[in-house]
Amino acid sequence: MKYTKLGALTVSRLGLGCMGMSHLYTGHSRDEASSIRTIHRALDLGVTHIDTAELYGPFTNEELVGRALVGRRDSVVLATKFGLMSHVGNAGPVDSSAASIRVAVEGSLTRLQTDHIDLYYQHRVDPATPIEDVVGTLSELIAEGKIRHIGLSEAGRETIRRAHAVHPIAALQSEYSLWSRDADDGTLDLLRELGIGFVPYSPLNRGLLTGRLRTRDQLEETDWRLTNPRFLPGAIESNVAIVEEIAEIGGEVGATPAQVSLAWLLAQGDDWSPIPGTIRVDHLEEDLGALDVTLSAEQVQRLTDITPAVGGHHTEAQARLFDR
Ligand SMILES: NC(=O)c1ccc[n+]([C@@H]2O[C@H](COP(=O)([O-])OP(=O)(O)OC[C@H]3O[C@@H](n4cnc5c(N)ncnc54)[C@H](OP(=O)(O)O)[C@@H]3O)[C@@H](O)[C@H]2O)c1
Repeated sequence: MKYTKLGALTVSRLGLGCMGMSHLYTGHSRDEASSIRTIHRALDLGVTHIDTAELYGPFTNEELVGRALVGRRDSVVLATKFGLMSHVGNAGPVDSSAASIRVAVEGSLTRLQTDHIDLYYQHRVDPATPIEDVVGTLSELIAEGKIRHIGLSEAGRETIRRAHAVHPIAALQSEYSLWSRDADDGTLDLLRELGIGFVPYSPLNRGLLTGRLRTRDQLEETDWRLTNPRFLPGAIESNVAIVEEIAEIGGEVGATPAQVSLAWLLAQGDDWSPIPGTIRVDHLEEDLGALDVTLSAEQVQRLTDITPAVGGHHTEAQARLFDR
């Protein structure tokens, strides 16, 4: 395993996203044992970066991660998120009021069976609570030993700058992949300027970039992806066809589309720790194989120039929660 820094925090170069073990995706309802085996295998292979949120489930994903980490907590950088679930008063759907953060952190600590969270993210920026106040509350939690580092998710440049002026931000977590490049709007440059790490989420475009998810029929009827623009009838067929461009480069380097997609992300910067999600040991092992894939500069450029996906990466309602 290779390691990197998110701000002052050392994490494995690839992390493990645990959301799909309890939330949104096909398979989570029947596969807790497989999920826990996957977390254990990740730790055995040197993964130290484990990502969850109180939203996932809701709550049950933190409980699952907490159970999986019993006896192994100290070898893990545990990241979770607040701001979309715990509401004190009438606020919502986003709520980063001090009272709500206090409720959220206590709940997460209990469910995760730990006395501290290593990386605590604001899940979505709350327009009603100035970011200075949010980071002020989080600084208090650091002083109390409940959290160690602060992260933001889908935050825009002005928010990042203002937050970092109050207390160092360790990481920004935003959707980023071959097909999702919103952070190219100057956000990535700002992170480098401020020394903030980047955690690309949904790095496999929620499974599409693996080339194995090819039809809507593969998804259970409750799977959230059936409503995602890139999975809609008409779009998914086009997107699956584009993955052939990735498979072609995979053929040149002896790697799968998932590995090539992750290797392209790893080639973007040493200060990134992508968090692919899986509930399967074989998929985890394949994804970690990306660390051994070397792409030439010409291959990286071809991937950078890949045909864009058909459809946005979120619905319009979800995108309204992004801070842009
Ligand atoms: N901050 C935020 O707002 C936010 C939003 C979304 C996600 N996240 C975080 O980011 C993590 C990752 O994102 P994600 O789970 O949405 O998407 P992802 O990592 O892009 O894709 C996950 C999907 O890919 C499949 N997959 C993974 N490796 C595979 C392989 N080698 N072959 C075939 N299929 C493979 C998984 O299925 P199997 O389980 O069957 O392998 C799963 O359906 C989440 O778990 C969560 O922690 C954060």
